[in-house]
Amino acid sequence: MGRIVQAAKITHVPSIWMSETMEKFRGIRDFAVTGYRELGKRAKAAGVETFVIFDTHWIVNQGFHFNAKERHNGIFTSHELPHMLMDMEYDYQGDPELGDALAESVRDAGFRAIAHKTSHLACEYGTLLPMHFINEDKFARVLPVAANQFASIEEGRAVGDAIATAITNSNRKVAVLASGSLSHEFWPNELSEAGLNLINGEFNRQIDLRVVDLWKSGQWTEFLAMLPEYAKRCHGECAMIDTAMLFGALGWDAYQGTADILTPYFGSSGTGQINVELSAPLKR
Ligand SMILES: [Fe+2]
Repeated sequence: MGRIVQAAKITHVPSIWMSETMEKFRGIRDFAVTGYRELGKRAKAAGVETFVIFDTHWIVNQGFHFNAKERHNGIFTSHELPHMLMDMEYDYQGDPELGDALAESVRDAGFRAIAHKTSHLACEYGTLLPMHFINEDKFARVLPVAANQFASIEEGRAVGDAIATAITNSNRKVAVLASGSLSHEFWPNELSEAGLNLINGEFNRQIDLRVVDLWKSGQWTEFLAMLPEYAKRCHGECAMIDTAMLFGALGWDAYQGTADILTPYFGSSGTGQINVELSAPLKR
């Protein structure tokens, strides 16, 4: 019987790559890398065999999709921010078997879902940047899940629930990672360089901080009640569908876990970022 043994909401900002690879920016995101490495250490200790990653940069327009290739490898440069994230080499084992099971379960829940095996479906950086650090020695398989940009929060919840059911019925120990921002309002061009380490707007910052407080105090019901409006008003990355799928997988408002902040809230290019591990449910 399978299990979700780790769950987390994580950052994937390209400034982390700048921090690691560009002399001018060396060390500016060390706290994010530290958080990633701690997540990796805990994943290994928990026996994680596959990372299932809700990737808000693999954006799809219809249905729900899984990158179920046998192997993910290549050299990645971001199309969105090629000056910040380039030439990242990667090579991970995929998980076709679990990908098929997740897609089937999502179909059983009434949605269109496909597990893709085509060798030309590449990974996006919502998966690759966190995996570069969390899965540094490639100890676990990688299974990217697309973010449907037109899906509702309720659809995200139901899909997350179906994914968790399939994990329970599998033979895998799984980490479920929601790779996406809190507030997500980029700076206008003329402020983009000066705003590298800042949140765009006090409204976004205050709402994000309140969300972090709700998580710290385990007020999941209150957070989930505000999630649809939070996603709209604070420009949620891919409408925060990653967060909806994560909490759907954790049981939604039945979730009673705790949040452990591994990278404190920070601003990056206007957006609000964090690494938070959510205690995995004992059983579903
Ligand atoms: Fe992003």
